[in-house]
Amino acid sequence: MNRSLEIKGKKLAYQVLGDGPDVCLIHGFGESGSIWKNQYENIEGFRFIIPDLPGTGYSDLIDDMSMEGMAEHLNELVEKEVNPSQKLIMIGHSMGGYISLAFAEKFPGRLAGLGLFHSSALADGEEKKATRKKGIDFIKTHGPGEFLKTMIPGLYGPVAKEENPGIIEAHIQASHNFSGAALVSYYVSMMERPDRTPVLKTTSLPVLLVMGRFDQAVPLKDGLKQSHMADLSYIQVLDKSGHMGMVEEPMLSNEILKNYLTRNTKTAQPE
Ligand code: MLT
Repeated sequence: MNRSLEIKGKKLAYQVLGDGPDVCLIHGFGESGSIWKNQYENIEGFRFIIPDLPGTGYSDLIDDMSMEGMAEHLNELVEKEVNPSQKLIMIGHSMGGYISLAFAEKFPGRLAGLGLFHSSALADGEEKKATRKKGIDFIKTHGPGEFLKTMIPGLYGPVAKEENPGIIEAHIQASHNFSGAALVSYYVSMMERPDRTPVLKTTSLPVLLVMGRFDQAVPLKDGLKQSHMADLSYIQVLDKSGHMGMVEEPMLSNEILKNYLTRNTKTAQPE
């Protein structure tokens, strides 16, 4: 992390890399900003702002860990880093996408685009809530490290498991320093988040939807249901990915992301 900001006494750590139109990359549950490494190290022509969400890495937990609370917290980062006369594109992975949708609802005027990698505007169904409750019990009984070690392999598709197990191991290794309190608060907040399909249905932003054919956390069928909601959606299915396309199919993910960013930043900046 090369920068940090203090917001109401809580530290938010983040990186700023590259040069060009501003793009905020928001990581998901049990990850940090470095999950976007393949993207920020290889896509040129943009200024990437990459926070560690509250409770991740060097970023403090905050009082309001709801998706909306974290979106408001991130707005302080946007206020600091993005020139008020300019808009940014926000790209979120999974839980990062839920937060990005909350951001789009609260601060639509700051955005030039919204990208969801393996994410969804739907609220948790009853089955998902029950799974999360079991997850919370597991974290409380066995600790955060054991929980992530058990959970992370399920985020990957069969191709990564067979051909590239090293990326799964690296993900587990990188997730070792989460507190139980942080993981539990993410789960509770995800369970409580509302349906945000109205955001997709009413937005004038171009929306990027990237889905994984083998995604079990956000199933392809749920993603596809949302593909017609916004007026302008760019829809991509990663054929070899589960929930982690940015690391399972990095080259293709980069091509998709760069294409979307390039098309939608030409008109985003002031004339
Ligand atoms: C994530 O990757 O952020 C989580 O899997 C999201 C979720 O559990 O809904």
